[in-house]
Amino acid sequence: MESWADVSGRRVVLTGAGRGLGRILASAFDAAGAHLGLVARTKDSLDDLAQTLKGDPLVCAGDVRDDEFNGRVARQMVERFGGVDVWICNAGISPEMTSVSDMSPETWREIVDINLTGTFLGAQAAARVMEPGGRIIITGSVIGDRPRAGLSAYAASKSGAHALTQALALELGPRDITVNAVALGWFDTGLGAHWHRDERRENDIVDHTSLGRWGTAGDLPGAYLFLASAASGYVTGTTLTVDGGYSLI
Ligand SMILES: NC(=O)c1ccc[n+]([C@@H]2O[C@H](COP(=O)([O-])OP(=O)(O)OC[C@H]3O[C@@H](n4cnc5c(N)ncnc54)[C@H](OP(=O)(O)O)[C@@H]3O)[C@@H](O)[C@H]2O)c1
Repeated sequence: MESWADVSGRRVVLTGAGRGLGRILASAFDAAGAHLGLVARTKDSLDDLAQTLKGDPLVCAGDVRDDEFNGRVARQMVERFGGVDVWICNAGISPEMTSVSDMSPETWREIVDINLTGTFLGAQAAARVMEPGGRIIITGSVIGDRPRAGLSAYAASKSGAHALTQALALELGPRDITVNAVALGWFDTGLGAHWHRDERRENDIVDHTSLGRWGTAGDLPGAYLFLASAASGYVTGTTLTVDGGYSLI
């Protein structure tokens, strides 16, 4: 029997790898012996990350909204590592809070395009090359299930990502490919970091979180490692919430 949550030798595409949470996930999967394909728009950030890893990752700079780019990532993984076992759709954006009256159509489209369409296109590229036993993991958000005022586009995009997870799990189950989402709460890095600058919001989040603190780097990888490994072989279509109890209050 494989050891618990073993991902050594698994071939893993990770989008949004260049900064924030993706960088933490890249380090965790690398330390666990996975072969990584790192995706973000900014090549410098990926090259910089690659230098810190013990493995020799594939670096793919491009935009997850571009279906040809996603297909190219899949092809390069096959050429370099012989296939793709895990595709983590993690790239995402969220600008500062914007009221419905002030939201421009361009801002709405950009958030939905990256967070939802980009996620779909990554999952599609994965589904086209994955063998049975494959894993698609989508980074969702507690805001997708429990929106906050001022985050309408972000909430809609993440809620869509959770629904997409279920729809794809139904479609890909017969091929023995699992599809799960990780709904993150408030993490102390990346997109969440600017909320730290506002004392009222900062306190609001801590008061609203059962564990009474923000998520840290160490709180992140466990859920992804589990969902990427043989240990989660009978888990599909779920949204695993990693939020310190934010959703409870
Ligand atoms: N931080 C939190 O508290 C939190 C909470 C809930 C959910 N999340 C989710 O977690 C994920 C990662 O967030 P984060 O906090 O790590 O954000 P981050 O620090 O802003 O990093 C975002 C990453 O996504 C990449 N990216 C953005 N748009 C892209 C595009 N169109 N094509 C390719 N790559 C793109 C960025 O690459 P470039 O640098 O090249 O733009 C960067 O590497 C997101 O899906 C976010 O919604 C975060």
